[in-house]
Amino acid sequence: MQTIFTKAMARNVFLGGAGFFLIAYLALSYDTWQQIPKRDHANLITPAVAEGKYLVDTNDCMGCHTINGEGAYYAPELDVSYKTYGPAFIRAWMMSQPTGAPGRRQMPNFHFTQDQLTDVIAYLQWVGNINTNGWPPNKQG
Ligand code: HEC
Repeated sequence: MQTIFTKAMARNVFLGGAGFFLIAYLALSYDTWQQIPKRDHANLITPAVAEGKYLVDTNDCMGCHTINGEGAYYAPELDVSYKTYGPAFIRAWMMSQPTGAPGRRQMPNFHFTQDQLTDVIAYLQWVGNINTNGWPPNKQG
């Protein structure tokens, strides 16, 4: 005997499938939201970190640099630079721009105060410790 796929069966397949994936979607979203506080360490956002983020945003560092893969590819990934070279280097670097080294891309001097440099460094340290599940791959400074 031939089975006929009726309209009612098609509707049930559609509704059952849509319902199943909606529940899977909601469950996975809930699971992700549960993990975010452990991943972004929001409890470590000190006033210095917040001020550093403000300075990085308002001076458009990401117009040239990337942070966790976001931004432009003209200059190195800043959280990797922090991990590679550390706070003292970042401070000295920011103060000695532009280098004027021939053949190298140049970076402007932002004339930050020592306190502002401390804040930018605090932000780069915090943002580099967000657990992004290894994203972006092949991150390079
Ligand atoms: C106009 C583009 C531009 C902007 C805007 C810019 N940079 Fe840069 N930055 C560069 C370039 C180009 C280099 C690499 C220069 C070199 O290697 O000689 C660099 C290098 C650096 C380095 C050294 C990184 C390393 O791994 O060697 C740090 C730290 C840095 N920038 C921080 C910042 C911060 C913080 C801001 C925002 C306040 C910023 N930059 C804004 C262009 C820029």
